[in-house]
Amino acid sequence: MENHRLVLPEHLNQYGFLFGGYLLMWVDEIAWMAASLDFPGCHFVTVGMKEVSFHKSVKEGSILRFETDQVHRGDTSTRYSVSVYRKTEEIFSTEVTQVRVNERGEKQSLPNH
Ligand SMILES: CC(C)(COP(=O)(O)OP(=O)(O)OC[C@H]1O[C@@H](n2cnc3c(N)ncnc32)[C@H](O)[C@@H]1OP(=O)(O)O)[C@@H](O)C(=O)NCCC(=O)NCCS
Repeated sequence: MENHRLVLPEHLNQYGFLFGGYLLMWVDEIAWMAASLDFPGCHFVTVGMKEVSFHKSVKEGSILRFETDQVHRGDTSTRYSVSVYRKTEEIFSTEVTQVRVNERGEKQSLPNH
């Protein structure tokens, strides 16, 4: 799955660059959308995110591209790699695990294919 985001003034930190919390929110949201589209009708919550390292700063006006792929399917969970690019340069990547839950927030097995 591919998504884009425009970095606006409200996404910047006090030094004028993208605040990492917004990037993590977008990554989390995109992984949730990927799981929800792959398993229609299922409800998901994030249980974990792999390594989080910020090695590149991002300026206002940047158009970020998010690439998401399923990398693992377990009993109740599904894991997605999320890579973020500015033009062709990768500025961030991690893996996000989503767990299927019922209306009481209890984990559930994923449906069979
Ligand atoms: C999601 C939740 C229902 C899972 O219940 P749990 O008893 O903690 O689950 P388990 O430890 O048995 O793990 C469930 C699955 O998640 C996986 N998992 C657990 N912790 C993980 C982590 N840190 N990273 C990756 N996967 C993880 C397990 O391997 C298991 O996968 P499988 O069933 O596909 O084999 C529960 O942890 C929860 O409600 N968490 C809060 C979710 C939330 O509110 N997220 C938003 C953050 S504010």
